[in-house]
Amino acid sequence: MTTRILAISGSLRRTSLNTNLLRQAEAIAGRGATFDYFDRLPAIPLFSEDEEHPAPAPVADLRDRVRTADAVLIATPEYNASIPAGLKNALDWLSRSDSTGGPALVRKPVAIMGASGGQLGTVRAQLALRQVLHSMSARVLDKPELLLFRAHEQFDESGVLPEGSRAHAALLGILDGLADLVTQRGTPHPATR
Ligand SMILES: Cc1cc2nc3c(=O)[nH]c(=O)nc-3n(C[C@H](O)[C@H](O)[C@H](O)COP(=O)(O)O)c2cc1C
Repeated sequence: MTTRILAISGSLRRTSLNTNLLRQAEAIAGRGATFDYFDRLPAIPLFSEDEEHPAPAPVADLRDRVRTADAVLIATPEYNASIPAGLKNALDWLSRSDSTGGPALVRKPVAIMGASGGQLGTVRAQLALRQVLHSMSARVLDKPELLLFRAHEQFDESGVLPEGSRAHAALLGILDGLADLVTQRGTPHPATR
């Protein structure tokens, strides 16, 4: 089965380590998955209940793409020990219902990972992100965790995660785990009935 993955990078930086991590995941997944990259975080307005209806076009686009995907894969940097604002803003929009349905991430399989230049590998951002996703009733993959610390040293000169590295193995595990979550659909959440 091919898993349709919506890939979201929490970084807007052109040479982002986190966006590169998603590209590595796509390369490792091969034919096992298709990757749709959502790169419109900067176009999403700051959430306001006054602006919810009708949904701004980039928000409607994000909701559609989340609903179409089998799973969501998020790679996030850590900003000031937490989630970057653009990503959190998008999640706040996704936590809301609209005229086409309930909150798009309810029961959706989601995996998270992160890369940083420092030693902590985004652990605080990932803990915060996990909490937010749980509160939105997403089905978040528990393990493996990928905390890519000193990330610039872990990619080779072509930006590739070397096969056999711990990070490469963790990425494989995340892709397998996400595919398993997709096939184990489980009981529908009450909010989706
Ligand atoms: C505003 C800001 C805050 C940051 N805060 C943290 C932090 O709390 N922890 C950390 O490990 N790195 C922090 N960094 C450094 C990022 O880990 C580093 O810039 C990383 O490369 C960002 O990810 P990207 O390459 O995907 O853009 C911060 C960077 C910025 C710009």
